[in-house]
Amino acid sequence: MLNYIHDIPTRIFFGEGQIEQLAAILQPLGKKVLLCYGGGSIKENGLYDTVMNILNKGGFEVSELSGIEPNPRIGSVERGVKICHEKDIDVLLAVGGGSTIDCAKAVAAGVYYENDLWDMVTSEHDLLKALPLVDILTLSATGSEFDPAAVISNPETKEKLGNVYTYPTASICDPTYTFSVSAYQTAAGSADIMSHVCEEYFSRTMDSDLSEGMAETVLRSVMKNCPLAIQEPENYNARANLMACASIACSGVLSYGKESSGWPCHAMEHELSAYYDITHGVGLAILTPRWMRLILKKDPTTTPRFAKFARNVMGLTGDDESKLAFAGIDALEKYFISTGIPMNLQDLNIGTEHFEEMAVHANRGGRLDASYVPLSQEDVVAIYNDCL
Ligand code: NZQ
Ligand code: ZN
Repeated sequence: MLNYIHDIPTRIFFGEGQIEQLAAILQPLGKKVLLCYGGGSIKENGLYDTVMNILNKGGFEVSELSGIEPNPRIGSVERGVKICHEKDIDVLLAVGGGSTIDCAKAVAAGVYYENDLWDMVTSEHDLLKALPLVDILTLSATGSEFDPAAVISNPETKEKLGNVYTYPTASICDPTYTFSVSAYQTAAGSADIMSHVCEEYFSRTMDSDLSEGMAETVLRSVMKNCPLAIQEPENYNARANLMACASIACSGVLSYGKESSGWPCHAMEHELSAYYDITHGVGLAILTPRWMRLILKKDPTTTPRFAKFARNVMGLTGDDESKLAFAGIDALEKYFISTGIPMNLQDLNIGTEHFEEMAVHANRGGRLDASYVPLSQEDVVAIYNDCL
């Protein structure tokens, strides 16, 4: 088991009704609020009105950054920074899914960034000086509510890049706000949660019992609760378990004591959504079983890890470790299919035309060379081809 530091400053307010705390959370952070949201789901489900009532009653001055895209774009970040300067904003309030929260993080940091904002996205840096950010989560998926990362896209250069900016000061995680999430986004978000766990579970370190056990629990919980939430969108416990799992899955906690795995599926997926603007979790569900099969064949020393996954996560049994390892992957793929996720790139109108350049980009900074099982450019192209 390796050394680790636990340092997550975000306060999570979890559960139904926690929005009652909103005014008190914002009060010490300032009066001038930039309310950030996406394409209108919060207006349809009534959350916008609830939030505005609280802000108006509390005497906050509200400006708005609306229309933040899924796979948020640098243009939205630029718009947000401009409003912050013009209105002398004190605090950002992001209400939405990962895209809205990510965009708000980049805006919060962009306010103090002196160079071009795309340079902020592309350059290597640690946490940045930023305005305080509070969020109200409406989709269980990315874990952006409990981590410092944001992923910003530039459609002109076909780049989608993750970087760290700032932690939310507080996140209000009320599962009832996810009742209106569609079956498709519920399945995609759940696949994203599972991918965050897998990216850390599939590591060379096998003896960090706490993070290993938590990872397996999160995976089992998502596979139990995602189908329930799809069947019964207002099943509070199913939505609540997905939300709790989402926050922990991407927080880094599940990698404590373990060697880094390089997050190869995310590196490959960000290329898919950079080129084709697809839903992140769908791309991950398509890639993950294909990636698993390739690395298990390429490096059979991973067999014990895959067999452990098959036993402890997929609930399979058997004495033949190799068979079990492959059966676990098949079971995972079947599970994704059962949630209604399209499992082939062709279903998303994606062909082979950009695979070579996407494979080069995915290895930015030598990330895939250093992943759990190092991936060559040919490996990545083979994985994309297998996903067709
Ligand atoms: O834009 P609105 O109208 O709000 O609609 C959204 C959007 O169309 C809708 N939605 C959200 N909450 C809803 C709802 N619809 C009905 N009821 C609700 N309660 O769902 C659609 C997708 O929303 P989005 O925010 O894009 O989804 P998600 O939370 O999956 O975020 C995806 C983005 O996060 C990045 C992804 O790459 C992608 O850009 N990621 C961020 C990470 C991080 N910050 O740590 C890590 C992840 O691995 C990921 O890369
Ligand atoms: Zn993800």
